[in-house]
Amino acid sequence: MKNTLTFLKSFATDKDVASITPSSKYCVRKLCEHIDFTTTKTIVEYGGGTGVFTKHFLKQMSPDARLFVFETNDNFYKKLSEIQDERITVFHESVEEIMNLLPEQVVGAVDHVVSGIPFSFFDWEMKIDILGKTQQILRNEGSFLAYQTSGHLKKPLTEVFDNYTTDFCWKNIPPYFIYESVKD
Ligand SMILES: C[S@@+](CC[C@H](N)C(=O)[O-])C[C@H]1O[C@@H](n2cnc3c(N)ncnc32)[C@H](O)[C@@H]1O
Repeated sequence: MKNTLTFLKSFATDKDVASITPSSKYCVRKLCEHIDFTTTKTIVEYGGGTGVFTKHFLKQMSPDARLFVFETNDNFYKKLSEIQDERITVFHESVEEIMNLLPEQVVGAVDHVVSGIPFSFFDWEMKIDILGKTQQILRNEGSFLAYQTSGHLKKPLTEVFDNYTTDFCWKNIPPYFIYESVKD
């Protein structure tokens, strides 16, 4: 309830929040079916919000795994920074800055990028720019997982990754498409 209120307040003042409520637990679990936490060492999260995915990742990740979270909204960044866990690093920056902020040794070694940022708000160049950087930071066979409200990511994912699959999560407000693209 507290998180939903934070979302509503943040949504009213920041269009990039793009949702009136945090993602449902059901949606978090459904997306995480694509992640094998026993072998995953590095996850990057785009748009952590109030931390529903973030906290689930930390519960599932091994003690030596790392999580890097990008969040532009001030309220959400503050909330995410309060998480006490030495495996997490939170950046109060747009994901466009990822190549400047991610440690050098992590670039090309990321297992999964999980994204909730509103790609539908971005123009074509920005979509391609962010997806291109995403492809660079992933390891071979690493995956980009995005939950989005519409089918608009198909074209840019084909352009950058040349592959994608989709799934659907009804039990969320709003319902989400879940995309997966694999770096090969
Ligand atoms: C739909 S919400 C998802 C939040 C949370 N992960 C969840 O599932 O409840 C999108 C989030 O992306 C953040 N965001 C939007 N554009 C961003 C950008 N360019 N870089 C980093 N975060 C961004 C918003 O502030 C918001 O927290």
